[in-house]
Amino acid sequence: MIPTLKQQFIELFGGLGEGIRTFFAPGRVNLIGEHTDYNGGHVLPCALEIGTYALVRQTDKPLVRFYSQNFPETGVITVSYGDLSYRSEHGWANYPKGILAAFQALGSPETGLDILYYGTIPNGAGLSSSASIELVTAVMLNKLFGRGLDQLELVKMSQNVENKYIGVNCGIMDQFAVGMGKQHCAILLNCQTLEYRYLPLVLDDCAIVIANTNKKRGLADSAYNERRATCEAALAKLQNVLDIASLGELTSAELDACTHLLSPLEQKRARHAVTENERTLEAARALERGDLVRFGELMKQSHLSLRDDYEVTGIELDTLVEAAWGHEGTIGARMTGAGFGGCTVNIVKKDYVQDFMERVGNAYAETIGYEASFYVVNVGGGAREWTEMEEMSR
Ligand code: GLA
Repeated sequence: MIPTLKQQFIELFGGLGEGIRTFFAPGRVNLIGEHTDYNGGHVLPCALEIGTYALVRQTDKPLVRFYSQNFPETGVITVSYGDLSYRSEHGWANYPKGILAAFQALGSPETGLDILYYGTIPNGAGLSSSASIELVTAVMLNKLFGRGLDQLELVKMSQNVENKYIGVNCGIMDQFAVGMGKQHCAILLNCQTLEYRYLPLVLDDCAIVIANTNKKRGLADSAYNERRATCEAALAKLQNVLDIASLGELTSAELDACTHLLSPLEQKRARHAVTENERTLEAARALERGDLVRFGELMKQSHLSLRDDYEVTGIELDTLVEAAWGHEGTIGARMTGAGFGGCTVNIVKKDYVQDFMERVGNAYAETIGYEASFYVVNVGGGAREWTEMEEMSR
């Protein structure tokens, strides 16, 4: 694939093949721990082998030119260092522009660049295509500009770009998983302290199957911000009587003792944040002792809590997971990511994967009226320069 991309790069930007470097950042899937990151709880995501490739070459013009194979209709977007502000007509290119602006703010050299992107993550499916393009750009510029920032600093920079430059109030999970992922491992991350541990993802005779509702996530951002605000309001009330910095520090027993302080809506939202954090820690322990059956039960409870207490699922995600729960090859199934559409994550016995995709797909199309998409995914490493050795081993 990289030789083809190089060819396209040359056709687009001219010159010969010299001096082109390639970088890669994965997408991510979260196994459990949903809407816990901005509540100071734990998450358990992993990086995927699908992701975003970026080919780059330095030039002697003071301009940066961006092109994405995934959005040919926007053509080449050219920006100068004199104006790196957010521009809605730049669409997808605002993500890498935001990262470029962050490096500019650090006083990095204002080098001319030609960059070609190619992503294998379905866009807007909740598999972190935006964190992926942010991190691939951050790792690339860090190398080209010789900044020497460590990977965690690039993760934080990317989250900051997403929050301040793009204007999406997300937590740190996506950028962390995309930046710090490790092959064959899930990451248990404490989002309050950023302490983390890699847990070997031993799935034996099972595969990870992602099912995409293909539902357009219309009002997702405002509903996301609303959930966040309700949890923050609940925390502020609890802080009047408890010495806590986040909901992630509470056990469900401690929360139960204080629910009278909260409105009915705040009670539900806080209950999800607290119980989901407990489930995530228990799921990590189950994974460590190789108890996939327990892991699968916790995935189901997680979905139910997201459906009933956090109310971020909807008919599409519910239909997909219910069909999955009813399939004999399923070990666990739940929605993954922010919700309101997007994808489910399923642990399915390998022998049943084909049948799973057919039957769950049929049940979905029958109820919803359009098709779901399925991807059997592998767990890969975090954002990095793509070496020739890696290319040869593909
Ligand atoms: C989105 C956000 C993450 C996280 C999840 C929900 O993916 O970007 O920070 O909050 O939703 O778990």
